[in-house]
Amino acid sequence: MNLKEKINKQKLPQHIAIIMDGNGRWAKKQGFLRAVGHEKGTVAVRETVEICAETGVKNLTLFAFSTENWNRPKLEVKTLMKLLVSSLKKEIKTLMDNNIQLKAIGCLDNLPSKAKKELEEVIEKTSNNNLMTLTLALSYGSREELLSVIKRISEKVSAQEIETSEINEDFVQQHLYTHDLPDVDLLIRTSGERRISNFLLWQIAYAELYFTDILWPDFRKEDLLEAILNYQNRERRFGKTSEQIN
Ligand code: FPP
Repeated sequence: MNLKEKINKQKLPQHIAIIMDGNGRWAKKQGFLRAVGHEKGTVAVRETVEICAETGVKNLTLFAFSTENWNRPKLEVKTLMKLLVSSLKKEIKTLMDNNIQLKAIGCLDNLPSKAKKELEEVIEKTSNNNLMTLTLALSYGSREELLSVIKRISEKVSAQEIETSEINEDFVQQHLYTHDLPDVDLLIRTSGERRISNFLLWQIAYAELYFTDILWPDFRKEDLLEAILNYQNRERRFGKTSEQIN
């Protein structure tokens, strides 16, 4: 039985989030510039999106650029933004052909105008697609997201639009960038690092964490299937006992 056949379609993660890490180390290992690693990383992005669509995963969120990544050398930031624009131009057809909707979360106003415009265009064009949602986290940081939630809710309390007692988990969820996405079920990080790095802190409260040593440019369809199978073999108890679950 191949990996794909082993997947239990009834127990698919509804939302997979990935910290794509290791582009730089991959490039260094091969004696290339870091930019080559990022470029190769786009191949892994394509494979991952394809296998999620083929398997029936409804939501995939990729950490493409963090708020902290702005501190990288200017040339690398420029390369990543260029890669974003060229990938969007190249992949719009695939997104349309496969009925995939593109979304983005983060401080999108900080993106260079060309990248922001291209992103907005693809988001608009794919807005009626409904097989799967691909969300790119761009200039994203979870603490920034939570701060913006706190500020907006505080303003509503100050304006007496709501009472403090009305603030509950659902209300906070509705103010997140990911307000229209379910909680993350499976969080994957490549490259051997075992950190969350300010990614979707609220949304991963009950996520299963999966770490692999594979560097992102080497991540292939089978690796995503391995992660899903691993997830399906875990018992998710959400604070209950094993007996209650079974
Ligand atoms: C982490 O590797 C990767 C990034 C900061 C950027 C991810 C970008 C891509 C995969 C390519 C473009 C993506 C899209 C969606 C068009 P790293 O540079 O931190 O690697 P290192 O830790 O080995 O240095």
